[in-house]
Amino acid sequence: MPHKPASIERTGLAPLRIASAHGGTSITAASRLCLSTIDRHPDLIQGRGIEWGSGTGILTVAAATHTGVDFVLGLELDAAEVAVARTNAELNGVADRTGFLISDSYDPLPGQDLATLDALRGSSTFLIANPPTSAGDDGLGWRRRVLRGALAYLVLGAEVLLQVSRQYGTSRTERLAADVGGYAYKGALETTDWVRFDQSRYDLREALDWYAAEELRSGEPYTFLHPDEDREVNATEARRLREATDASPRTQWRMHRLTRLG
Ligand SMILES: C[S@@+](CC[C@H](N)C(=O)[O-])C[C@H]1O[C@@H](n2cnc3c(N)ncnc32)[C@H](O)[C@@H]1O
Repeated sequence: MPHKPASIERTGLAPLRIASAHGGTSITAASRLCLSTIDRHPDLIQGRGIEWGSGTGILTVAAATHTGVDFVLGLELDAAEVAVARTNAELNGVADRTGFLISDSYDPLPGQDLATLDALRGSSTFLIANPPTSAGDDGLGWRRRVLRGALAYLVLGAEVLLQVSRQYGTSRTERLAADVGGYAYKGALETTDWVRFDQSRYDLREALDWYAAEELRSGEPYTFLHPDEDREVNATEARRLREATDASPRTQWRMHRLTRLG
């Protein structure tokens, strides 16, 4: 049963009405940054696009409200989220320009309408993704899979809007494009103010543990801002501070632009 829709403000545009499948936490500060990036850069989202990991559908729905966007397909593993995303598309009057599939990455589950995704093969002009942190590696494993899988769908010159937060650092973020191949990294589009990397959230707590392990393995630091002081700390120190005082380090959510190369 979807939760009652919340009104999500947008700059210069009518608010969105977004219900969530799992209560009030589905729309995070990172989701809001992705939303404002879409709204501030409508020139980058034109034509037919894919959103990887669409959750409530907030970003797919937002993209579909822009002039020049013909169709957006949200791919999402969680069936309850897909159901609520379809409701949200209807609530916001874009059901005819959106589709949602229960899909493990770019592999729709049995019973899903494969033709909708197939129609985007080699013809998508944009991709939007706010993926989860991956476990047991540098945290960017899902982003590499998102980019690698999208190669089959994006036309040359297609735009990619990808959320990668500040703690990864510029080198790691730039390297994503080189690691996968087929993309040029074009820089950060939008950044939030400093936000707590909230260690009471299980996923962010686990992410900090993985970062500290990876830092030890690779020797390449992650960069946070100290919980209270105006100085940077690496993941190992941020973790030590959390263990000692329960404090959360600070970071910034960031939306980046890549383009598809030949
Ligand atoms: C950080 S949330 C972003 C949700 C939404 N796009 C937003 O910005 O509010 C990441 C989403 O990716 C979905 N996801 C995780 N693994 C996935 C997979 N293998 N295939 C498709 N979606 C996946 C999660 O269920 C979740 O909804």
